[in-house]
Amino acid sequence: MATTVASVPSVFRLSTGKPRQRQQRRGGISPAARCPSSAKPSAVSVRTGKCISARATTTAHRISVRAAAEAPNAPPPEPEAPKLETEITVTDLGNGVTQLRVNCTDKMAYEVEYSLNKGTSENFYIFQSGSEVTVLGIPDNQFAEAFLDALPSICPLSSIANIIIPHFSPKRLEALAKLIEARCSSGELPMLHCGNPALTPLKTALPESLLEGRDYRVTAVRNGSAIAVGPRRLRVTLTPTPRWPDLFCTFDSATETLFTSKLFSCHICTPDVFDDAGWEELNEDFRHYFECTLAASAKQAKKALKKLAGYVIGDGASANTKASYVRQLAPLHGTIVRDHTTELIREYNEWTDKQIAAAEEATVGVIYASAYGNTTAMAQAISRGIAKAGVGVESLNCEMSDPEEVKELVRRCSGFVLGSPTLGGHMPTPIQEALGAILQEARDARTKPCGVFGSFGWSGEAIDMMHSALKDGGFAFAFDPIRCKFKPTMQMLQICEESGTDLAQAVQKEKRKRSRGAAGPTSIMSSGTEQAVGRIVGSLCVVTARSEDATSAMLASWVSQASFSPPGLTVAVAKERAVESLLTPGSEFVVSVLGDGATKGPMKAMLKAFKPGEDRFQGYETLTAEKSGGIVIPEAASYVECSVLSKLDAGDHWVLYAEVTAGKVLNDSMQTAMHHRKTGTTY
Ligand SMILES: Cc1cc2nc3c(=O)[nH]c(=O)nc-3n(C[C@H](O)[C@H](O)[C@H](O)COP(=O)(O)O)c2cc1C
Repeated sequence: MATTVASVPSVFRLSTGKPRQRQQRRGGISPAARCPSSAKPSAVSVRTGKCISARATTTAHRISVRAAAEAPNAPPPEPEAPKLETEITVTDLGNGVTQLRVNCTDKMAYEVEYSLNKGTSENFYIFQSGSEVTVLGIPDNQFAEAFLDALPSICPLSSIANIIIPHFSPKRLEALAKLIEARCSSGELPMLHCGNPALTPLKTALPESLLEGRDYRVTAVRNGSAIAVGPRRLRVTLTPTPRWPDLFCTFDSATETLFTSKLFSCHICTPDVFDDAGWEELNEDFRHYFECTLAASAKQAKKALKKLAGYVIGDGASANTKASYVRQLAPLHGTIVRDHTTELIREYNEWTDKQIAAAEEATVGVIYASAYGNTTAMAQAISRGIAKAGVGVESLNCEMSDPEEVKELVRRCSGFVLGSPTLGGHMPTPIQEALGAILQEARDARTKPCGVFGSFGWSGEAIDMMHSALKDGGFAFAFDPIRCKFKPTMQMLQICEESGTDLAQAVQKEKRKRSRGAAGPTSIMSSGTEQAVGRIVGSLCVVTARSEDATSAMLASWVSQASFSPPGLTVAVAKERAVESLLTPGSEFVVSVLGDGATKGPMKAMLKAFKPGEDRFQGYETLTAEKSGGIVIPEAASYVECSVLSKLDAGDHWVLYAEVTAGKVLNDSMQTAMHHRKTGTTY
């Protein structure tokens, strides 16, 4: 039986310009455009035993969109995603639960949370009870082939009676359609369990060809309800966020496991099923994932943590269940957390509290809609740029909210950004309505810095429309409109992140201006302590880093040797510094140690104002480091090539500890340039 999948996300269906009810906005994917699925089975050899693995190459592809192809003057569709190398592991977790993991070493730089460049993993959990099987989680289309090839080694596909979908997106349709098709061969449809916001999109997107006159069996889970899986009951806790409005967690008391889907995840490709690598090793991966995906929804994340607290502390109060104790957290991405549940939950609480506290000082609203995730990826990078400057972020997905919520957000925020894809030469209706709501709030427009951004295919009208409407409304822009053709590259994400930081700094400046007006000028006299700290001196250096097509640099004097074995050094990097996002653990950078009397040129080049994403080295001749190929400042006395080992949270800076992997003296007769200063309050 041929399977077809519908393919136009709801934001496009809603782009008619007609007023809609809120309920409609929650509606789903248009049945208008359907196209053949191109899932091709690939041979997977699996070893037998408790934990088995196999290699497979998955053909990744986007769901093609007939509507786009039919659009007037439509150019060729977006290029297909490259093939991904995947590895499958199957692990018996006991008590009738098996984990199927797809590991992938590819960088997947397209989503900002992948920028650690450690690949990723997707975990699925299979519950077996007699001949009845339940699958929890559905793979991204990029991993559908590998998943479907491996699953029959655990259970016959036709035995899958229940499919639990803790988060649905059109990017996860392919495997779902195949699983339904396999079950149909036994004459039955499987029962699908999803969050309420996914109900309509899911029903509309699924292939009609399988139904043969029947209705899909789809049920929306409720908070505190239980999904019957044979004799066991999986308790549901709804944990929605703007990015994942349908997200929910499930608790299995038989294995004392909380299946957390997107929460408590991290993007790493690892053979470890559990968190055996240790907290030191994993902490940064979890923190990075949180910062990229949840920091902008800290309020919702906190709400989710409160709901889950009943499981965590074991009193069951908030979780609507009898005493239940979480022994392990089983996420969609990364390892199962069993040795560090306390640390991870404590950190999640601290990270959310910190974001909420920052938001009390000043908040920027990130308002967007996205049909295929490209504008979402840009919104995420902008959010990260705002958060790293210490300003709170509140994101609002216009598809899931009404204009009143937009108005309310803009009213209480100190600045905002608005992002939209261009579809059919326009902004989709939720963005048109959001823009209308923002313009009604234009009375204190000049004090609210803003920015617009969006992904487009060939014309990009939506970005210009938003820009000119806000300009006419008197709003001041903190950065130029960001236009991205289809998927953002690393360099585009860098532009987005730096624009977010610029906006946050504009908000802070505006705030300082107003508070100075109220309290009078503050003293700039240094205290004795500050002068004493100022006597600490450092060598003047330039730190350079690169990731794919993105490069960055900073002048640095807080650089110090830190160990002999391995040869190591520390660099303190301000959290809002542009280069910071390229200095993740595992990444490489170069420290060019400047020579006395030869600092003028490099200092001038590094200290000028840069536009977001602007090439720091344009018109500046650089050298190439011998081992890593990194960027070297030619006037330097020497350079050292380094690899980041760890990152310590030090107030408004990160202290990087890095191993020196190579180095070279460029000018033997040069003394190192020292940076002297009067006070410890500046560099
Ligand atoms: C049905 C359809 C219509 C589109 N119309 C336009 C258009 O008029 N102009 C344009 O520049 N891009 C157009 N595009 C391309 C999208 O803007 C592009 O795919 C963009 O990356 C989508 O961003 P998103 O992932 O945030 O939804 C269209 C795409 C589709 C699927």
